[in-house]
Amino acid sequence: MRMILFSSRQYDRDTFSEANASFHYELHFQESSLDSETAILAHGYDVVCPFVNDTVDAAVLEQLHAGGTRLIALRSAGFNHVELAAAARLDLPVLHVPAYSPHAVAEHAVGLILALNRRLPRAVARTREGDFSLTGLLGFDLHGKTVGIVGTGVIGRTFGRIMAGFGMQAIAYDPGSPAAELLALGAQYVPLDTLLGSADIVSLHCPLVPATYHMIDAAALAKMKRGAMLINTGRGGLVESNALVGALKSGQLGHLGLDVYEEEGGLFFEDHSDTPLLDDVLARLLMFPNVIVTAHQAFFTREAMNEIAQTTLGNVKAWCDGAPVNVVRHAPARG
Ligand code: NAI
Repeated sequence: MRMILFSSRQYDRDTFSEANASFHYELHFQESSLDSETAILAHGYDVVCPFVNDTVDAAVLEQLHAGGTRLIALRSAGFNHVELAAAARLDLPVLHVPAYSPHAVAEHAVGLILALNRRLPRAVARTREGDFSLTGLLGFDLHGKTVGIVGTGVIGRTFGRIMAGFGMQAIAYDPGSPAAELLALGAQYVPLDTLLGSADIVSLHCPLVPATYHMIDAAALAKMKRGAMLINTGRGGLVESNALVGALKSGQLGHLGLDVYEEEGGLFFEDHSDTPLLDDVLARLLMFPNVIVTAHQAFFTREAMNEIAQTTLGNVKAWCDGAPVNVVRHAPARG
């Protein structure tokens, strides 16, 4: 079985090579991202393994199909980058990694909250300079405050458990069934607008689907509590980036932590430090002292990487054995 991994880096090579010791597939690690120009590189590979910012639209899928690809094995939970209707039409199964260390993402969301609240980047920069003053570093107790969890799937629930440990009151919004373990922790399910109006911290853990695209726009930001914190470790498209700048300038949005960004494709996962940042919105966001942006690293723990590699290769094996698992359906309800 020949498999090509697009957008791969040394860490992918390390973890997939190690996991492959028990599968023995022929793995080819390709640094280029997948798009209509690079799809040709997959010619002759049975399995194509794209990453989250690769282009897997109808045109690319048609090229892959024509080149002999029989399976798309995603190494991510999210599949919003895949045109599922086209894959179904071409009879190209799409598999994903539905759950891998939800702790990795949930803990990163908590890391963003603590870093923003206690101004840790600023505090560290100060002490390095010999400035031991506290002005401008005032935070607030998480204990007793309200956290709003949007999407209470595997990651949202894990996040909720951690925040309950801080003594926060959790409120949640999810169009699916309420999570029993969050209810047991005292969480209340409320409509999205109620959540936005009541939470001191809003954290997004739902998939990017047409219904959630720009769910946090200017109108939603205006409904939030003044000075509240917004955390997005879900997908960039959940938030209308343009609206963030105004909300931060006016003070309506008090803190912003982003691990994902609408226009992150072509930017995140690469070193662009030698060139000017051409994305004006991102450049502006990075100038606010109350904003932290990380480059889609929430998943990036040793445990999660190992699970991703094992599950991705296990998915390929199950499909080869005629018993496919973790198939992404054409009309998904979950991410
Ligand atoms: P999951 O499928 O277990 O849970 C998603 C939840 O969102 C479900 O309970 C679903 O009912 C809910 N949902 C669907 N539509 C919604 C809506 N309109 N409003 C509110 N909730 C809605 O997925 P999981 O594993 O918890 O992951 C959540 C998301 O986190 C993924 O879809 C992915 O986009 C993102 N993610 C980000 C990573 C990162 O490194 N930053 C890594 C892994 C996942």
